[in-house]
Amino acid sequence: MDHGAPITTVTGTTSDDSTGRTTVALLTQRARRQPMFVSEIPWEVPLNDDRPHMPMRYVPTYGTPKWESWEPTDRTSEMRRYCAELFTGFIWLENTIIHFLVRQAFREPPGSEAHTFLLVEATEECQHSLIFGDYVQACGVTPRGPVRWTKGLALLMRLTATDLEAMIASLIAELLTDPMNRQMAGDDTIHPTLQAIARMHVADEARHIAFAKGQIRAAKPSALRRLRASVRAPLAALTITRVLAGRTPPRDTGSAYRNRTRHDLRSLQTFLDQSGFGGWISGCLWTIVINHVAPSAS
Ligand SMILES: [Fe+2]
Ligand SMILES: [Fe+2]
Repeated sequence: MDHGAPITTVTGTTSDDSTGRTTVALLTQRARRQPMFVSEIPWEVPLNDDRPHMPMRYVPTYGTPKWESWEPTDRTSEMRRYCAELFTGFIWLENTIIHFLVRQAFREPPGSEAHTFLLVEATEECQHSLIFGDYVQACGVTPRGPVRWTKGLALLMRLTATDLEAMIASLIAELLTDPMNRQMAGDDTIHPTLQAIARMHVADEARHIAFAKGQIRAAKPSALRRLRASVRAPLAALTITRVLAGRTPPRDTGSAYRNRTRHDLRSLQTFLDQSGFGGWISGCLWTIVINHVAPSAS
């Protein structure tokens, strides 16, 4: 069976056209009128370049000779282009997280606190993905999406990661994106649609981050599983960081981006170290990964 073709129509009991078929677009429209899908995002504001779509200094190429050679209008459109790539990366990461949340929920006692939280978090991640998708559709940019090898590594992770390893990877993705979201949420010069998206994301992710940190701190895996998780964490960080760079290779990033990435990855490493997921193998891998994704300016 071919699973690759996009779904555009379904056959249902309710007829909406002369062929008796209901379009998926119509079904989606109806579903999104439900309270859980109604959000406060001001989509009526045109997604043009009158205001920046994100803070300038979070663009990977910010401060490079190429960036400095651009006119202000080129920089603003670069921010919109990168935002579309970034949100495409977010969707891709969110979908991976949803996969693990639902899988873990399946193992928890029905109705238990963990079961409930995991499903609530999965619902919120679905909502985020829908909103990021709406932005990508509306912003006038066709993103290229993550590079192929990152998709391969993530597929490997989907097939082999334990719940603990998946929780660590989720935390890495959430902590790497949280500073930018917080800055956007509080910056009134940012486009109001993007600011509202960031505000919603910050509020939801604060709960997800607290839950993930609690789960990681409380985990009591065997020595072998602990070692495995400590080794896989920097590899997850490598994949996630490359996805978030929106196809800008590390050598083309600016010093602000590199310094911030180094700082955020070292903070993550410290948290995992203090939670019992350190060790010399993991430490070496973290150093290799950090030097690759955020090379020091020579
Ligand atoms: Fe999210
Ligand atoms: Fe999250």
